[in-house]
Amino acid sequence: MERLQKVIANSGIASRRKAEDLIKEGRVKVNGIIIKELGVKVTNKDIIKVDDKQISKENKVYYLLNKPRGIITSVTDDKMRKTVIDLIPCKERIYPVGRLDYDTTGVLLLTNDGEFANILMHPSKEVEKTYIVKIKGIIKGDSINTLKNGVIIDGKITEQAKVKLRKTDYKTNTSLLSVTIHEGRNHQIKKMFESVGFPVLKLKREREFIFDLKGLKSGEYRRLTPKEVAIVYSLNKNKRA
Ligand code: URA
Repeated sequence: MERLQKVIANSGIASRRKAEDLIKEGRVKVNGIIIKELGVKVTNKDIIKVDDKQISKENKVYYLLNKPRGIITSVTDDKMRKTVIDLIPCKERIYPVGRLDYDTTGVLLLTNDGEFANILMHPSKEVEKTYIVKIKGIIKGDSINTLKNGVIIDGKITEQAKVKLRKTDYKTNTSLLSVTIHEGRNHQIKKMFESVGFPVLKLKREREFIFDLKGLKSGEYRRLTPKEVAIVYSLNKNKRA
């Protein structure tokens, strides 16, 4: 017996959270009956349909992409723009683990394993993400300390961050920093720097958890190794999918 949302996520259709939304929206049927409440348990004999299409078990696949600038991080786009999914030819229905902005580059994981995505995105896991940030202006120690200790964005204070100044360039009036955070709020890095008066000019995610860009040029990707997948699952000490 497994929870319905987990079975849907494992089928590769959506992350666990998206699967919960699908259920709440009344788009999921078990043996022909719409199920709207969360937590219902099913067996592998039950016939599960999402939007009247039966779900099936897919092979689980895991990719690490060096996302280029000018590509959106979603599965489909109503404006028909290129998405990160277009960069990885595979038959499984993969989706990105979290988001990077259109103009942000760097580490992006993609998978059809909802449990894996859920582990990395869950706030309780405090998975670290390191960004290289180029800003307009010469930043000083007081602003850096403010960023480290927390700034208010969207009405809520950010958690402690590691912020290191790497370079200042008086000629171009820019500064380069590395920032490590474990939250994943919308446009978080850009909003953090805006809050102390420095617009972000360039943003690259250099690392997420154990994953970095070693060996990957912009637009290139690789499969994760079984060991890397196991390390992610080890964050979930109590259970394994
Ligand atoms: N913070 C941002 O502002 N943008 C990103 O793409 C990632 C983190």
